[in-house]
Amino acid sequence: KILILDFGSQVTQLIARRVREAQVYCEIHPCDVSDAFVRDFAPKGIILSGSHGSTYEDHELRAPQAVWDLGVPVLGICYGMQTMAAQLGGKVEWSDHREFGYAEVRVRGHTRLFDGIEDFRTGEGHGMLKVWMSHGDKVTELPPGFKLMASTPSCTIAGMADEARGYYAVQFHPEVTHTVQGKAMLTRFVREICGCRGDWVMGDYITEAVQKIREQVGDEEVILGLSGGVDSSVAAALIHRAIGDQLTCVFVDHGLLRLHEGDMVMDMFAGKLHAKVIRVDASELFLGKLAGVTDPEKKRKIIGGLFVDVFKAEAEKLKASGQGHKGATFLAQGTIYPDVIESGGAKSKKAVTIKSHHNVGGLPEQLGLKLLEPLRELFKDEVRELGVALGLPHDMVYRHPFPGPGLGVRILGEVKKEYADLLRRADAIFIEELRSTLDADSGKSWYDLTSQAFAVFLPVKSVGVMGDGRTYDYVVALRAVQTSDFMTADWAELPYALLKKVSSRIINEVRGINRVTYDVSSKPPATIEWE
Ligand code: XMP
Repeated sequence: KILILDFGSQVTQLIARRVREAQVYCEIHPCDVSDAFVRDFAPKGIILSGSHGSTYEDHELRAPQAVWDLGVPVLGICYGMQTMAAQLGGKVEWSDHREFGYAEVRVRGHTRLFDGIEDFRTGEGHGMLKVWMSHGDKVTELPPGFKLMASTPSCTIAGMADEARGYYAVQFHPEVTHTVQGKAMLTRFVREICGCRGDWVMGDYITEAVQKIREQVGDEEVILGLSGGVDSSVAAALIHRAIGDQLTCVFVDHGLLRLHEGDMVMDMFAGKLHAKVIRVDASELFLGKLAGVTDPEKKRKIIGGLFVDVFKAEAEKLKASGQGHKGATFLAQGTIYPDVIESGGAKSKKAVTIKSHHNVGGLPEQLGLKLLEPLRELFKDEVRELGVALGLPHDMVYRHPFPGPGLGVRILGEVKKEYADLLRRADAIFIEELRSTLDADSGKSWYDLTSQAFAVFLPVKSVGVMGDGRTYDYVVALRAVQTSDFMTADWAELPYALLKKVSSRIINEVRGINRVTYDVSSKPPATIEWE
């Protein structure tokens, strides 16, 4: 296994991700762990991360001496390179200013790390790498035993190596995707230079994570707000695997879920996994408070606020009932790594802002609960992989995102039960057809080819004709988008035949809707949701 020592870079987690992609197990620990910790960890290799800031104190951060005494390969990245140089007798010029940027690095000499890895060759035949460089502090003199491995015009020593000891260092960031060969370099380091086998899979992560959860929780009890979304579902399945009945899931049904969604969540977690799940049917409460409210942000606030109230009441009931000996002392959340970054970086002391759709902000403090966040280190696709490894159904784990306020923001204007019931059925038909229609070229379903797809209820009536009679019914808009980050999105060019089928099924099967439109707006300037 590989030990990653974190000097506080925003992208340290990406190093871990790249190492996991190379199918090698790794753990991130703070750079100030003890020598004994490093020895006990018994790594096959160590990676020293970059650092976030440019404050003078950071220059004082050093890798524990044991890193250099263990006799295993070490890779220094950015700040990690500087500390390597400083600790092993080279010279470093510190600068207060640091910036990231694209750079082309010239490969020097032959090293095991770079051999055969290059992006292009210059006219003179020099091997070049396209990298994401951190400019600022520089190594100005190689430590004894080191040779030059890479350089740029502005940074003479952009990479250095002491191959006899297996020490390598680069000034740029191989962990970010902008460094084209970064993944190849990290794979080379952990597999070939450190000699890790590369047979680690997500299944192994479960073993480690289960053990950690057991250690953290001990014999205490945990509650978790289960929404049916990917993150809370995977967190629930993982924690349940670890501590079984010490976990209680609270599933708040606000009446604005998709067709049969509540039953499916119960069936999966209570039925198949035999987890303790409390289903709170709060639809009347939610719909009651939403009556007459048309403003989207007001609707969001009401739904979010009620969610907290209901969850809190359940948590307090559980605490009071002391269903074990003392009731729940932990609140589990499906926080994933991108949430951690969004809320101010992994190093931030500030508590992670709870995802808007979990809406339990402030609850841990109010209820005196400790946080349990077993997915904090994982990226979305890794969470999905973990979900599959835990036995969750593929369809659940690879489903499109669904907003916390649910159909509350997909029914334009005032939310009514009648509207929600119509929308649920129209939406279910759309999703069913997307899932069952395959694209001939890729062989994938249109559900998998789109990032998010749903129906929107428009509370306006239009005239239609059915049989001999005239109808005067509601309109539904279909929305399907393709996006990688949900910040920008294109409307999906669904096949006409698919749209035709969906439209005719909705109009024939959902009495009350007589017109279907397809939304052909991209984001920006439109948003994905209609409210
Ligand atoms: P927009 O509509 O802003 O949506 O383009 C971008 C992504 O965010 C989701 N979304 C929400 N998720 N609570 C949520 O949990 C919300 O209030 C909310 N509003 C939008 C939306 O579904 C899309 O994936």
